[in-house]
Amino acid sequence: MSTQNGTPLLTIMHVNKQYPGVKALDDVSLAMDAGEVMAILGENGAGKSTLVKVLSGAVSRDSGEILLAGRSLPMYNTPLTARAFGIAIIYQELSLLLQLDVAENIFLAREPVLFGGVIDYRKMHAQAREQLDKLEAYHIDTRAKVETLSLPERQLVEIAKALAVDCRVIIMDEPTTSLTWEETDRLFEMVRRLKSRNVTVIYISHRMNEIFEISDTIAVMRDGRLIDKVRTAGMDSVKIVEMMTGRLLEHKDRKAEDCKVAYRDDNIVLEVGGASDGKKIENASFNVYAHEVLGFAGLVGAQRTELARAIFGAGKMVRGEVKISGRRIRNRSPKDAIRNGIGYLSENRKEEGLNLGMTLEENVIIIDMGKVSRRGFLYRAKIREIFDGFKASTRIKGNAKQLVSSLSGGNQQKVAISKWLHSGCGILIFDEPTRGIDVAAKAEIFEIIRRFAAERMAAVVISSDVRELADVCDRVLVMSRGKIVHEIMPYDVSQEKILHSIVNKGGKKNE
Ligand SMILES: Nc1ncnc2c1ncn2[C@@H]1O[C@H](COP(=O)(O)OP(=O)(O)OP(=O)(O)O)[C@@H](O)[C@H]1O
Ligand SMILES: [Mg+2]
Repeated sequence: MSTQNGTPLLTIMHVNKQYPGVKALDDVSLAMDAGEVMAILGENGAGKSTLVKVLSGAVSRDSGEILLAGRSLPMYNTPLTARAFGIAIIYQELSLLLQLDVAENIFLAREPVLFGGVIDYRKMHAQAREQLDKLEAYHIDTRAKVETLSLPERQLVEIAKALAVDCRVIIMDEPTTSLTWEETDRLFEMVRRLKSRNVTVIYISHRMNEIFEISDTIAVMRDGRLIDKVRTAGMDSVKIVEMMTGRLLEHKDRKAEDCKVAYRDDNIVLEVGGASDGKKIENASFNVYAHEVLGFAGLVGAQRTELARAIFGAGKMVRGEVKISGRRIRNRSPKDAIRNGIGYLSENRKEEGLNLGMTLEENVIIIDMGKVSRRGFLYRAKIREIFDGFKASTRIKGNAKQLVSSLSGGNQQKVAISKWLHSGCGILIFDEPTRGIDVAAKAEIFEIIRRFAAERMAAVVISSDVRELADVCDRVLVMSRGKIVHEIMPYDVSQEKILHSIVNKGGKKNE
């Protein structure tokens, strides 16, 4: 597609990138105008992140040319070169240094200095404050260590960091996965402001509604190739998904009649009574029934993850009790929880979900080695067979022997899910299970969750996507500020009902 005024700001020509066994970019060519907001869409592993990493200098291309305002981006592009060209990026997996404070992260390697080369801390903090205020992130202290911030807060710091550079192209790789609606709106305002200043924005997301809201154009990738670049106006999500997958997709709504759960006291498999963490969670009580998929809705900050972690033994529970099938258990650590048959798929796969230095198949079998070893001897063939099963059912794009760190974001998530399915737990808490998963694979993850509940004891799903909750859950509990404030029964579960409940019962965003 040609650009609007014939002289593009950014031109990518015949770019190739080969990884061992995968052609991540296959002869990709495209052009972008100044002030254009382009979305990139594609299935997990399609090459989206690789393309933007080539631009930002995180990886180097094998061949092809990239021009920015007529200047050629060097073959061995580095993050510093890219920045000098005015290209800034916000990564899918955040890249902040946890031990440094907020201002230090924002101005890393570009700190304002006083005469004599001493860092001007006062100026640095004042400028960091300015950047954060632009994002209305007033609550973030520039002196706070990044490790003390929540995931969405860290993301805002990352955005502030990119904005602090006077950039001509800003790249966002799945920036909204951990933001609330309000924060997402604010980010979109920011994107519009950038656009009006003639900054070009490249926006990667699996969320179709966001893409239709914010982008001027959509580039669709599949298997490393650019399938097409089209104008957003006049497109619809069905057409886009067809381009992404090369096949048709059917959407099956969950119906109230589909719920086969018997809501009787003698059918309770997990009972949580009066759980408090001494901080924010207050007196949370709920039951999970046999073969049920129970959802937890709420805004970021509702403490759903904290409650899950307390039950799983990864967070504190100072009061309250947990019973499995009527038997009282105490999970002092995740190890205890796993022994008691409870699993927790973390929303934060990089920090605690996966072992990045291990291969895909090793990650999958790590929790339950018993099934694949005897007296220290590993049955390699058995491991491979198990992995291949999960690879097929969750559509993992990757090889058994590959390091998990070399997988695309969505494929890492699929490995994390497989790991817990293999663990043999009876109850599994899925925290944001489809974060980073492409639209086509989502339906498969839902199917996996339902099958898990049907074949084992029960599944619990925490999600900030109300459509996802409505599609996969039998019953939904709504949390707000550490309390369970509402219960939506199966005959009532719908996107609208959940949304309504979050907004009305959940009150305003948490402090
Ligand atoms: N460092 C690496 N070493 C080996 N293979 C890699 C490496 N980085 C990416 N790949 C492979 O390149 C392909 C493209 O990956 P990329 O991260 O660009 O996908 P993506 O479109 O961003 O997917 P997602 O939606 O899951 O984030 C994948 O098959 C991935 O496994
Ligand atoms: Mg990616």
